[in-house]
Amino acid sequence: MSSNSIRQQFLDFFASKGHQIVPSAPIVVKNDPTLMFTNAGMNQFKDLFLGNEVPKYKRVADTQKCLRVSGKHNDLEEVGVDTYHHTMFEMLGNWSFGDYFKTEAIEWAWELFTQVYGLSPESLYVTVFEGDASENLAFDQDAKNEWKKWIAEDRILLGNKKDNFWEMGDTGPCGPCSEIHVDLRSDAERKAVDARTLVNNDHPQVIEIWNLVFMEFNRKSDGSLENLPAKHVDTGMGFERLCRAIEGKASNYDTDVFMLLIRLVEEKTGKAYGKEEKADIAMRVLADHIRTISFAILDGQLPSNNGAGYVIRRILRRAVRYYFTFLDRKEPLLFQMIPTLAEGFSGIFPEMKAKLAFIENVVREEELGFLRTLENGLNMIASEKSIHTKENVLSGAFAFKLYDECGFPIDLTNLILSEDGIRVDLPEFNRLLEAQKDRSRKATTQSSGDWIIVRPGDACEFVGYDTLETEVHITRMRSVKQKNKDLIQLVFDRTPFYAESGGQVGDTGFIQSANEKIHILDTQKENNLVIHIAEKFPENPEAAFVAHVDEIKRRDTTNNHSATHLMHAALRQVLGTHVEQKGSLVNPDHLRFDFSHFKGMSKEEVRQVERIVNEKIRENIQLDERRSVPIEEAKKMGAMALFGEKYGEEVRVITFDANFSRELCGGTHVPATGQIGMFKLSSESAVAAGVRRIEAITGSKAEAWMVETEETLQELKDLLKSKDLSKSVERLMNEKAELEKKLDLLESEKTQGLKQALKGKVIQQNGVSVLIERIDIPSVDQLKNLSFQLKNEIPNLFCVFGTVLGDKPFLSVIIDEDLVKEKGWNAGSSVKELAKEIKGGGGGQAFYATAGGTDISGLETALNKAKTLI
Ligand code: SER
Repeated sequence: MSSNSIRQQFLDFFASKGHQIVPSAPIVVKNDPTLMFTNAGMNQFKDLFLGNEVPKYKRVADTQKCLRVSGKHNDLEEVGVDTYHHTMFEMLGNWSFGDYFKTEAIEWAWELFTQVYGLSPESLYVTVFEGDASENLAFDQDAKNEWKKWIAEDRILLGNKKDNFWEMGDTGPCGPCSEIHVDLRSDAERKAVDARTLVNNDHPQVIEIWNLVFMEFNRKSDGSLENLPAKHVDTGMGFERLCRAIEGKASNYDTDVFMLLIRLVEEKTGKAYGKEEKADIAMRVLADHIRTISFAILDGQLPSNNGAGYVIRRILRRAVRYYFTFLDRKEPLLFQMIPTLAEGFSGIFPEMKAKLAFIENVVREEELGFLRTLENGLNMIASEKSIHTKENVLSGAFAFKLYDECGFPIDLTNLILSEDGIRVDLPEFNRLLEAQKDRSRKATTQSSGDWIIVRPGDACEFVGYDTLETEVHITRMRSVKQKNKDLIQLVFDRTPFYAESGGQVGDTGFIQSANEKIHILDTQKENNLVIHIAEKFPENPEAAFVAHVDEIKRRDTTNNHSATHLMHAALRQVLGTHVEQKGSLVNPDHLRFDFSHFKGMSKEEVRQVERIVNEKIRENIQLDERRSVPIEEAKKMGAMALFGEKYGEEVRVITFDANFSRELCGGTHVPATGQIGMFKLSSESAVAAGVRRIEAITGSKAEAWMVETEETLQELKDLLKSKDLSKSVERLMNEKAELEKKLDLLESEKTQGLKQALKGKVIQQNGVSVLIERIDIPSVDQLKNLSFQLKNEIPNLFCVFGTVLGDKPFLSVIIDEDLVKEKGWNAGSSVKELAKEIKGGGGGQAFYATAGGTDISGLETALNKAKTLI
């Protein structure tokens, strides 16, 4: 059975049990401060478990792309070293939202394993939660009773809270779980050691495959558990492990999921898999990491220097270092694996093939960038290791230098050193890192109290497309600490406030009841809750409030959002349809738009985009807004969708002229394009490999820019007393060049005159031509020129000049090379000695040296002293 049909059988099986098959959520999580990446199939259903959202389907199944590389669930260190952990894996799952519970979940798991997949019951073991007194949690007798219907009782093992109580994170939905483990050892090994002693003991051949979680509780931020409004089932099965069990392989990497990638690495590096341990680990690391990197980029997360982007960059660099050191490959390799990867996933995630060129380009550029500093960093480690290791600990300062200068993530430095049994002084490294401004950490830290429920009902209806003022009631509230500020979060039953999303900033404004007014500082989304940020708790939260959105800010923001759509369409017209949105920010002041394109835009292209957008503004195209369009229909209509965006089954379609711009979008838009007024592109630059960034202004901001520009021009015209600025400036520049030429000529004539006069002052003393003078000269360069000319023209010269440059005394000494050689004279030490008189210092070469000082009155003394040096 190949992996693709194994996946399909899972989905077909649960469809036959009344489950709706849904798509995987994007691997990159937006709108959840507690999570960077999807790390379990249930993430996208968190609000359904908590009761914040009403389920559309009570039974659902899917395959979910997951990453376990940060936070509570992090397997990175194991990956490649062992044969069954991955950074990215697919999690097959089936869910019941308040529908079936343990009976069906267990029966169907058993049926799928033994009847559909044909796994032998002799190889299976299950675990059940034994209870936990400290949390007042009971032994899961129900699960045990259910299993007893299917499997011999001696194969049902008890597990503690660590293994058999599943939690999403520090807070959130959780519950007891029951896992299915499979024993993949040979018969002889099975006889020798009882598998029951190996379950949950990190044995590479006795592994967990499926986790059935019975969600009953919500872990609150104070650590306590509360009952969820209903009981749910959340199952998660490791797809790659399942394939291995069914295909009877000794390692996940031997299945067709990974083998094609490993074969490709063999071909590219000329090394064979299975011959040498270090090279094998490297190949597994590559086959694993390229999946994470590619899916993250596909879903919109480019490698970067902070937050989720840094996690991806670290993984990519880890992979580069493995092929560099252990596969002896010094050129980019990862990007060459992407076509094979995309082909393998073309049945289930066809979007990767569609975005191949973009992903390849980003990965290749990242590899090139890191390869440039990698060798240098590795050499630094090698020499530092031999000199400065104390008791097998390397200083945190050195690790920080590597991080800062060579881009070595600390886990990479650790990994490299651990191969020699050395570790890094982590506390010191962390101290240094803390000291450096850490933008991402500051931006994401948030701690919150528990919700206080004010009134029942959690659905928050957004009415802000149609009105900016309406009556609302608070349904829940809590305190939070955000960027070191104490703030309050409020949720309403309905709201006209737009919550930040799709790049558009959140609305601000206020809510007012009969006796109080509360300012809304921002509006954010957390999962599906719309959260209004305020400075204080309402005194009377039960009261009816009237919500008012700041109208001007909203209008300016809206103008920029609609202009972004027009510009996106114009860019595709001018540059080509490979242009795709990679990021967007829309606020009242300006818009910023990142898009895929491989080179800078020419001046003409920029003008063309501006021209098209302004034409569309003047056409005053009416907004065609359609809400609740089935996603398939929207796609048929040709609406542009973004990768990595999670769309529901019904979407909103925004059209400005069916032949021009049609996008899936939840943002706010102008009723007709004329409202935008004017569009002005203010900058175009590069942000990452293959990604350009445009910034632009519209409406009143564009007008202000125009007025300011015009005023500056008028001021210049007035100053130059001219109507034709370019001509006048050109004339001025020509005149300046002429004058400079004349000035140079005059100066050199003057220097020539000076030179002749000085020649007349040379005195012969014991075969040395001595010239010691105070002179007037405008610059150090001219002084140097003059000195060198004199040295060339007068044999055996010893010459000291004193001068004043600006308001500072200055000395120079020049000595004929023969004198330097024969008499051992030295201009550097002479000038140092003389400089004492002008309270200064200097130096230079043996034949020419200079010194600056601070005391002009000492110049004469210095020159007199020079005479005594001979
Ligand atoms: N949430 C559970 C897990 O991730 C089961 O899906 O293991």
